[in-house]
Amino acid sequence: MGQLDGRVAFITGGARGQGRAHALALAAEGADIVVADSCADVPVLGYPMATEEQLAETVKLVEELGVRARGVVMDARDTAQVDDAVAGTIAEFGRLDILLANHGIVDFSTVEKTSDESWSTIIDTNLTGIFKTIRAVLPRMREQRYGRIVATSSMGARQTAPNLGHYIAAKWGVIGLVKTTALEVAGDGITVNAICPGAVGTDLFFNQPTYDIFCPDLENPTREQFQQRLDDLDYGLNGVRYLEPEDVSRTILYLVTDRGLISGQVAEIGLLGPARGIY
Ligand SMILES: NC(=O)c1ccc[n+]([C@@H]2O[C@H](COP(=O)([O-])OP(=O)(O)OC[C@H]3O[C@@H](n4cnc5c(N)ncnc54)[C@H](O)[C@@H]3O)[C@@H](O)[C@H]2O)c1
Repeated sequence: MGQLDGRVAFITGGARGQGRAHALALAAEGADIVVADSCADVPVLGYPMATEEQLAETVKLVEELGVRARGVVMDARDTAQVDDAVAGTIAEFGRLDILLANHGIVDFSTVEKTSDESWSTIIDTNLTGIFKTIRAVLPRMREQRYGRIVATSSMGARQTAPNLGHYIAAKWGVIGLVKTTALEVAGDGITVNAICPGAVGTDLFFNQPTYDIFCPDLENPTREQFQQRLDDLDYGLNGVRYLEPEDVSRTILYLVTDRGLISGQVAEIGLLGPARGIY
């Protein structure tokens, strides 16, 4: 008997990284899983997004846990794609109980140097895309009088950091959206919460733009040099330089198995790191 037997979860950005870890954590508790991911690179970003092969791999790993799974290519910025993916989930699985609005991207520049394209891409993805997925699932959750929504914000929305003005504005926005939605659905059996992870060891953290921002004195810094820099800065919490995706999944599981008493809250997991004017 799993804690989520009979539940259906819809997870955005689920092809890899934290989304994949959350899919496996919820599946291990018996939930059927729909993983939605754009699986397409974004021109303004200096690192790759997930691939359709990674999405298929997540589906396979979930199915190996003995539950049903489906992968959907969906850009969370696109209203029609989001609405179709949610409608398809309900048509195939008969319900939709859990939304993990997890997808997200990062880009680095000071406010002064941020282009319109970079600003719009980050806000459209990390804030508007979260809004669109939450909006899409609410009618069904109200009908069911049951829903658990967790949106992924960031410790950047608790501590802030330079070079991330658009990212941090979006992540603060997610917290405002979550708190507002939680009030609007209070009494309908739906909870809405935000999680704020510090750095997590995924492709959003291990990529060339991140190495460059941490090691501005080095030409083409490598992952090894970046990791050395994290040690030099004593980055992180209690000697842990960055979280594993599964560290975040444990908090997600706590929030989605709660019986309805935790809503409009923000769960912080790990420090972003010492603010030394870098990240
Ligand atoms: N890794 C970190 O250090 C860190 C820290 C705090 C918060 N976060 C947040 O955690 C969440 C998960 O990121 P991750 O660390 O697993 O990184 P990741 O890059 O491995 O995963 C993000 C996923 O989102 C997908 N995606 C991007 N744009 C999309 C869109 N428009 N529609 C649908 N899917 C889209 C990508 O293809 C990718 O699979 C993000 O919201 C991120 O901002 C990450």
